[in-house]
Amino acid sequence: MSDEIGGSRRNSMELVGAKAGTAMPVEMRQALNLRGLVPCSVENFSKQELRAYEQLMAKSTNLEKYEFLAILRSTHINLFFRLVIRHFKEIAPIIYTPTVGEACLSYSHIYPFLYPFRTSIGMFITLDDVHSIDVVIENYCLSMIEMVHPEIAVVTDGSRILGLGDLGVNGMGIPIGKLQLYVAAAGLNPRRTLPITLDFGTNSKRYLNDPLYLGTREERPDDETFEDFSTDHAFGLLDQWRDKALCFNDDIQGTGCVILGGFISAVEQAGIPPHDQRILFMGAGAAGVGVAKQIMDYFMIEHNIPEDKAKAMFWFVDSHGMITANRGDKLAQHKVYFARHDNGNMQCKDLEEALEYVKPTALIGLSTVYKAFNEKILTRMNEINAKARPIVFPLSNPATKEECSFEEAMRCTNNRVLFASGTAFPEYTIPETGELRVPGQGNNMYVFPAVGLGAVLCKPARITDTMFYAVSKALANSLDEEEKSLGELYPRIERIRQISAELAAALIVQAVREGLVKDQHWLDIVKNSMPEVMDEGGKADGCFSRRVVGEVKTLMWSPPDSVEQYIVEAMTAIDPDDV
Ligand code: NAI
Repeated sequence: MSDEIGGSRRNSMELVGAKAGTAMPVEMRQALNLRGLVPCSVENFSKQELRAYEQLMAKSTNLEKYEFLAILRSTHINLFFRLVIRHFKEIAPIIYTPTVGEACLSYSHIYPFLYPFRTSIGMFITLDDVHSIDVVIENYCLSMIEMVHPEIAVVTDGSRILGLGDLGVNGMGIPIGKLQLYVAAAGLNPRRTLPITLDFGTNSKRYLNDPLYLGTREERPDDETFEDFSTDHAFGLLDQWRDKALCFNDDIQGTGCVILGGFISAVEQAGIPPHDQRILFMGAGAAGVGVAKQIMDYFMIEHNIPEDKAKAMFWFVDSHGMITANRGDKLAQHKVYFARHDNGNMQCKDLEEALEYVKPTALIGLSTVYKAFNEKILTRMNEINAKARPIVFPLSNPATKEECSFEEAMRCTNNRVLFASGTAFPEYTIPETGELRVPGQGNNMYVFPAVGLGAVLCKPARITDTMFYAVSKALANSLDEEEKSLGELYPRIERIRQISAELAAALIVQAVREGLVKDQHWLDIVKNSMPEVMDEGGKADGCFSRRVVGEVKTLMWSPPDSVEQYIVEAMTAIDPDDV
């Protein structure tokens, strides 16, 4: 070891150099006595990216791609994020849904090969740990090479994963994947993200009997034993905590927000006035009723339609037929609000009958009934809406439950459909013209990274429904002219970083308008660049100024472009006095 290099500086250099890999400069190689021990080429980051992409493409299954990327994330974090950002459309479905679901199913079998043992990928908290949580937090801090504190955490208890059921500790893949999207899509700093899994057991026999299962091998505690974390109460937990801690539920609120954004775009493009919309829901579970209430808020807030009139724009069909007050059965509490009172003696036994009775402009599926929107239904939707474009949203997940595909909706509506789905569908080429059409997917990854970014930046006291509403509006506003001219309802996913910046800006502006931001920096920027909106109080319209979105963009993390920049940043992070 050279005399000039002290032990700690050498350790720091080794850590930094290891992550620079083949881009390590000659001087650093010499200082670390690496001459002759590594290939001589000194590469730039673009070349490393090219090689990584080539390796990724050479994998034959998506799970192998997932594994390759997970290892890359552990060993070359900047290279990993450069790859994800540059190839977001291609890689997001691997690090997030659907492939992350596949990885979670076998997580206990692959985990040790994804992360070298002791690599700190997040927190696994068992019931025993809860009582000594300070120790876990301290251990986590000690494990971090760079002395930074997390600014965003994603927490799961692994009990309801992507329609795959109770995965127990194997659910850790989800917060990891989500946080990678927070970084890649919205520029959160990866070193300040923290995945957390509450490993309180699993009720899945498959895992309890799996000899390789890595989590707590016990059934989950019942509600009484552990009320705060009971698994069936996501809505209740949200209500309990949303005003006390800076938190949100990316599935419940993020999904509602993204569907509303797509629906606003659809109403704007449909070609009939909003108050003439007639919306028929198939499925009246928590999802159907929740989505309907959000859309109803839009009609009330945006178009000043009074509540009773807005409510009357919605009809529901469940497994017993159209939901009416005089159907003859006792309606579940959450269905009562939308039950029709204006049907006289008319009852419809199923979707087909309801379609003829309601003559809807929009058909929304949250029913879990595969192919419920069959050729007959879709063709009738097209006929009923001869003068306006029919809106069809088959939102059920996963693909085995979807109400119809994009291709089916296009074919049956003479390519006029305004479409958004729960699962991803391939693009569709119109056979007669050869034109390509892109389906809308109501994927919550359009919004949750942006909401996280906006909240981390301006630190509002809480995240309100009106902030989510502003984000939905900003999402609808974010479509460019080309996307609109092609009837698309969501912006192209390739533009996700720009979209995230705009949505985060909309959230920040709304938070300031609602008086929930204390940070003087953001107060000044919003008030100085948008004095007129401050007079409008809490009105949510999803607007922001160029100054706000510009400031958001400057604060978004991205991987360093050059090795010189990387080394300075990395050495500063490890030891600010020793660069
Ligand atoms: P749920 O099981 O509580 O509700 C299903 C509803 O469909 C019930 O009202 C049921 O009566 C109705 N239904 C079942 N068979 C029917 C039939 N033959 N005719 C008419 N109605 C019928 O389920 P939940 O939680 O409301 O979710 C529904 C679906 O929505 C799931 O597939 C879920 O994955 C999906 N979902 C999708 C989201 C997205 O972002 N795309 C967001 C939330 C949920």
